Amino acid sequence: MATEKFRGKTAVVTGGASGVGRCLCELFARSGMHVIMADIEAAALEAAGAALKEQGLSVEWVQADVTSPESMENLEARSREIFGNIHVLCNNAGVGIKEAQRRIWTLTPKDWEWGFSVNVMGIANGIRAFVPGMLAHGEAGHVVNTSSTNGGLYSMPTTPIYSASKAAVTSMTEVLYSQFKMEGAALQAHVLFPGPHLVNTNILSSMRNRPERLRDDNEPVAYTSMADLAKASGIANMKLTEPEEVAETCLAGMCAGQFWILPPSKSNDKQLGERTESILRRRNPVLQG
Ligand SMILES: NC(=O)c1ccc[n+]([C@@H]2O[C@H](COP(=O)([O-])OP(=O)(O)OC[C@H]3O[C@@H](n4cnc5c(N)ncnc54)[C@H](O)[C@@H]3O)[C@@H](O)[C@H]2O)c1
Repeated sequence: MATEKFRGKTAVVTGGASGVGRCLCELFARSGMHVIMADIEAAALEAAGAALKEQGLSVEWVQADVTSPESMENLEARSREIFGNIHVLCNNAGVGIKEAQRRIWTLTPKDWEWGFSVNVMGIANGIRAFVPGMLAHGEAGHVVNTSSTNGGLYSMPTTPIYSASKAAVTSMTEVLYSQFKMEGAALQAHVLFPGPHLVNTNILSSMRNRPERLRDDNEPVAYTSMADLAKASGIANMKLTEPEEVAETCLAGMCAGQFWILPPSKSNDKQLGERTESILRRRNPVLQG
């Protein structure tokens, strides 16, 4: 089995307490890896970690805030202390900003700061903290950055900050991929696009982790759960992807050495195709629905 090559290796996953991150931790551990689960949310992290440990899986957890370079340096040092060399880093933590349906010019500097500090700087801090050690030990390894088709492939007009932040994630990962090649490194970079549909996680209640100093108004959040979103969209049986499926797609993509870990989807291909065509033909953008 292709996943055999991961047996006995060590993975660190940020945003590991919930959703896609939690499922990545479980699948990696079931594939015989040692896993460090990292998250800002201490209680959820401990609960998720303890639940996996009870099943006899090799997991530990370390509270970490991806927006803080020092916290990520501490995560790297603790991870090495616990399990030794790190082979897989999943920069997965991300937030949805309370921006659904808002115009870009109404969003505040604190909205931008929070969105970019987690979704973009979180990845930069992860790369900076872990990659030097992963290069130095010289063993094969993987860095997986979680983007989104929204922004990472084409820009939805409904979520301005999220979309811009995920465009940055795709670009940073392309650069990382090329620079690993330029170095002749035993590392590969991958960009993960959870889907093909909206993924059934807690991302719409991301406000739970927004720091006090970056809160600035009482504007209500449009939706806090996928059920709210389905109701607001008027789609009774909105198709969702379960996070377990995203984890399977991710591990299969890593095994196959795919840079673009992008599940098949006709509608994504159509939107990406329209965007690419509009650029190549110097046409104005098509409004993405
Ligand atoms: N849910 C979707 O439909 C979807 C679609 C595309 C991409 N994504 C991306 O998938 C990734 C995982 O999100 P999810 O959907 O599983 O959401 P989720 O809210 O269930 O999980 C995100 C985790 O990140 C943690 N986190 C938030 N801020 C943090 C910080 N500063 N430091 C450390 N951890 C922090 C949260 O506590 C949470 O446990 C994100 O990058 C998200 O943008 C999600």
